[in-house]
Amino acid sequence: MKEFEQALQRARSLVNAPAPEPSAPPADGPPTIKGVTGRPFMAEPKPEFTANPAREATSLPLLDADMDQFRASFGADNQGGRNIDGAFRLLRTQILASMKDRQGQVLGITSAGPGAGKSFTAIHLAMACARRSEQHAVLADFDFRRPSIASYLAAVDFPSSLGYFRGDGPLDQFLTRNEGGNLRYLLTDRSSELSAEYLASSKMDAALTELTARSKDTLVIADLPPLMGCDDTLAIMPKLDGLVIVVAAGESSFGDVEQAVAQVPPEKVVATVLNKVDGTSSTYDYY
Ligand SMILES: Nc1ncnc2c1ncn2[C@@H]1O[C@H](COP(=O)(O)OP(=O)(O)O)[C@@H](O)[C@H]1O
Ligand SMILES: [Mg+2]
Repeated sequence: MKEFEQALQRARSLVNAPAPEPSAPPADGPPTIKGVTGRPFMAEPKPEFTANPAREATSLPLLDADMDQFRASFGADNQGGRNIDGAFRLLRTQILASMKDRQGQVLGITSAGPGAGKSFTAIHLAMACARRSEQHAVLADFDFRRPSIASYLAAVDFPSSLGYFRGDGPLDQFLTRNEGGNLRYLLTDRSSELSAEYLASSKMDAALTELTARSKDTLVIADLPPLMGCDDTLAIMPKLDGLVIVVAAGESSFGDVEQAVAQVPPEKVVATVLNKVDGTSSTYDYY
């Protein structure tokens, strides 16, 4: 555990290392936005969205899922008295403020290796966002190697995002929603060998533009593959406005965390989640 704490501290110091001064952007270049770290954040120019506008969320089909079962297994009352819901509401508030500050709407969730709790974090964060009726969110399962959100939510009969990326139809055919209509889901039913290609694709650009087009108050929460062992998450990195790194206490090794964090542009990191502390709970750091 001591070794793990040291690893986390070293990882934090990497994230907090001063970034080199960027050269001044050309007069007509993208705007420079200060992130919460105080480091300049270059907004990616977003492609023009020309497809049909998305249907209003309430006309999307309801996701047939069992949120109560998820909450009962991983929610407020099942963590040795710890209030997981409450912890994620706090994380939500911090992340929404950070993303607003950097005028970003696309948040990736990643980790060093598999099993750290990315999907667990993405689902809780999306549910915490949906508690605010004025906040819109999209929970997107872009871990095409090990998609798991649908099974955590016991979702059945949902359209799989792979159809969209294969070109089978417009994006809104693959979206579902929650009862309140302020949380949309883009779920994936099986793994795909084309993970990196889909993450880097222009269809992904178009999807992110369409998902965020309706309102500046929409946050896309993208559950991503881990950083180690594949370059998938690096493939989508330029499209992300912010990144949450999940570290599992006792599971991620010192070297893995250090190497993973070193791959990530420091200005992208909005929070690290230290998950599975004492086997169950989560704590957070914000940047
Ligand atoms: N804070 C937590 N408390 C208890 N179990 C957790 C916690 N975070 C994750 N898990 C469990 O750990 C396993 C891996 O989590 P998951 O979110 O699927 O990881 P990843 O998406 O990073 O591969 C799952 O069985 C999940 O239920
Ligand atoms: Mg996962």
